[in-house]
Amino acid sequence: MELCQVHILAFAALMRCTSTNGWGIDGHLITCRLAQPRLSKAAADAVSRLLPAYADNDLGSLCSWADRVKFRYHWSSALHYIDTPDKLCSYQYTRDCKDEDGIRDRCVAGAIYNYTNQLITYNTPNSQYNLTEALLFLAHFIGDIHQPLHVGFTSDRGGNTVGVHWYTAKTVLHHAWDDSIIGTAEQRFFDSNVDELISTLQTNITTVWAGQAKAWEACSRTACPDAYASEGVRAACDWAYKGVSNGSVLEDDYFLSRYPVVNMRLAQGGVRLAATLNRIFG
Ligand SMILES: *[C@@H]1O[C@H](CO)[C@@H](O)[C@H](O)[C@H]1NC(C)=O
Ligand SMILES: *[C@@H]1O[C@H](CO)[C@@H](O)[C@H](O)[C@H]1NC(C)=O
Ligand SMILES: *[C@@H]1O[C@H](CO)[C@@H](O)[C@H](O)[C@H]1NC(C)=O
Ligand SMILES: *[C@@H]1O[C@H](CO)[C@@H](O)[C@H](O)[C@H]1NC(C)=O
Ligand SMILES: [Zn+2]
Repeated sequence: MELCQVHILAFAALMRCTSTNGWGIDGHLITCRLAQPRLSKAAADAVSRLLPAYADNDLGSLCSWADRVKFRYHWSSALHYIDTPDKLCSYQYTRDCKDEDGIRDRCVAGAIYNYTNQLITYNTPNSQYNLTEALLFLAHFIGDIHQPLHVGFTSDRGGNTVGVHWYTAKTVLHHAWDDSIIGTAEQRFFDSNVDELISTLQTNITTVWAGQAKAWEACSRTACPDAYASEGVRAACDWAYKGVSNGSVLEDDYFLSRYPVVNMRLAQGGVRLAATLNRIFG
């Protein structure tokens, strides 16, 4: 984690603060760590074969790989988010899933379909795709699509141009949702230990959310990113943008009311990543 921060800082401090990253490192780690223990035998075996040896069978350790390769694979940077029309609070694949040049399917929902279709070829001989990369992209993008501001407004780039103060620190609204809410929660409630947050989420998935978790998994095809994107833009309007203007100071009122939303989106991301991989690998 330290290494990644230093690495990114060393080469593009500004990009980290202004680009649409999706969840930060901990958000992605949490999603993948929640997902992996929920995999079926077939999916667990496929994941274990596809992960590079140095990952030591820990999908979480490479859940932010897609953010790190954005510089090398420049074409992939539009695949982390969806820009929807300002103030509309709705999402439609055919209207919204395109990049800044208007090229269709180039958004996080299109990427989830793309990498799902690639991974489905896992059991066919000589797949033409690099399925290790397909797995790492898919695991990352199912996290990203659950970050409400990843399905945000076009003109403010999902809250990236909305300046805010997170308590006393100057940042942008997008970053508050990528990192600050999770970071403040870890500090305040979990002794700065992400593993404790993960195990509390895990407990909640099997207790307070047990009924809902079944519904989160439901999907009549192999992947269902459109449903997640629609929920995301609603949450962006109802919680992320709500009451915030350029220069707002966000403190306890905002943090304490939004923290449960972030917890639920992380839990949904983890449950749905596992369910999607289980459908893909059978
Ligand atoms: C689909 O995956 C391929 C291989 O990584 C990539 O070149 C292409 O840009 C992807 N397209 C989308 C929409 O994800
Ligand atoms: C697949 O992608 C991974 C990660 O980028 C890379 O390390 C590996 O060499 C690639 N495999 C092939 C066969 O190209
Ligand atoms: C917020 O203010 C900054 C600085 O004045 C400006 O560059 C930015 O475009 C504004 N953002 C929005 C969403 O109006
Ligand atoms: C877990 O559920 C309890 C009881 O509803 C709630 O108070 C707590 O904030 C939840 N924690 C997380 C991390 O979801
Ligand atoms: Zn991302």
